[in-house]
Amino acid sequence: METKYYYEEQLTEAAQALKNGKLVAFPTETVYGLGANALLPEAVKEVFLVKGRPQDNPLIVHVSSFEQMKKYVDNLHPLTEKIVKNFWPGPLTMIFEIKKGALPSIVTGGLSTAAFRMPDNKKTLKVIELAGIPIVGPSANTSGKPSPTTAEHVYHDLHGKITGIIDDGATRIGVESTVIDLSDPKRAPMILRPGAVTKEQLEAVIDGKVAIDQHLIQSTETPKSPGMKYQHYSPDTKVMMVRESDWDNAVKWAKDKQIRVGVIAGPRIAEAVRFDVAAVYMYFDDSVEAATKGLFAGLRGLDEKTLGLDLIFVEVFSEEGLGNAYMNRLKKSAGQKYFEN
Ligand code: TXA
Ligand code: MG
Repeated sequence: METKYYYEEQLTEAAQALKNGKLVAFPTETVYGLGANALLPEAVKEVFLVKGRPQDNPLIVHVSSFEQMKKYVDNLHPLTEKIVKNFWPGPLTMIFEIKKGALPSIVTGGLSTAAFRMPDNKKTLKVIELAGIPIVGPSANTSGKPSPTTAEHVYHDLHGKITGIIDDGATRIGVESTVIDLSDPKRAPMILRPGAVTKEQLEAVIDGKVAIDQHLIQSTETPKSPGMKYQHYSPDTKVMMVRESDWDNAVKWAKDKQIRVGVIAGPRIAEAVRFDVAAVYMYFDDSVEAATKGLFAGLRGLDEKTLGLDLIFVEVFSEEGLGNAYMNRLKKSAGQKYFEN
């Protein structure tokens, strides 16, 4: 099939296609999602097939309002309204118990809970509203690869397999939403996946404690969110993290060993090493925001076969605030490996 791009004038057409069970990728502020009508099991099944995603990994249900979500949810956590008021639309996904049979079991991977998010993107909110149905949306990449942050990334992975892509340029944040578990009204919210909404921001809003899934701290623990156990964000080229003080050594080591290396970093590091490596993907500036926005695009860019790289070195940030989300994704793509002298 021919995969088409939908622009502003074709949003009604995109909504109609989704409603009818077709697969349409959509932009959000985090990454692009692979959309399908959440109420049609056949359409949702196609999402798993097209991505090559394991069926025990449940999907996020995207809604255009809090009211729409409430139709499906059973036990609202007492903090829900406060959280919604402060963070929706935005990069925050919430997990609740759902009304029995309210969503097809293929959406929830057979769990009694489901994940919900109202994305902060005008085109996508309009499409969900026009379609009048909730839309499932895993990241619109081939399973295992870095998530797509442009419509072209989606096209690269999925063209010929999906009906269309709603193009809205590069995404603002660059990594997937924070996922929090609110399924037990008696327990504090728990972060299952770090994202742009940080623990500190959540705690300030609810004026209380937010827990963190232990697997995010100790790699030996089993994650509570099914998707967190799978290999993720891996280009074909090997990735290594480089600590601040190791850049000179790392570049020298690669040169001595005649390893063709690419570098992903902010201008401060990128400009210092650019003449000693085969390729550079430079973040817009040296902030963790710029790094988070550029990480997946950098990994995809330097994975281009024509560059023929053996190894990609990536800048690290301290694991605080947004740095938590950045390092969570980077560690997965590097298989936890740092350059060691
Ligand atoms: O920013 C995002 O969240 C993007 C955009 C497109 O919205 N979507 C996204 O979806 O990242 P996906 O499918 O790649 O990640 C969903 C995560 C997975 O780790 C999955 O296991 C978890 O949410 N999840 C979904 N439903 C769950 C549930 N009922 N309980 C626990 N974890 C759940
Ligand atoms: Mg994903």
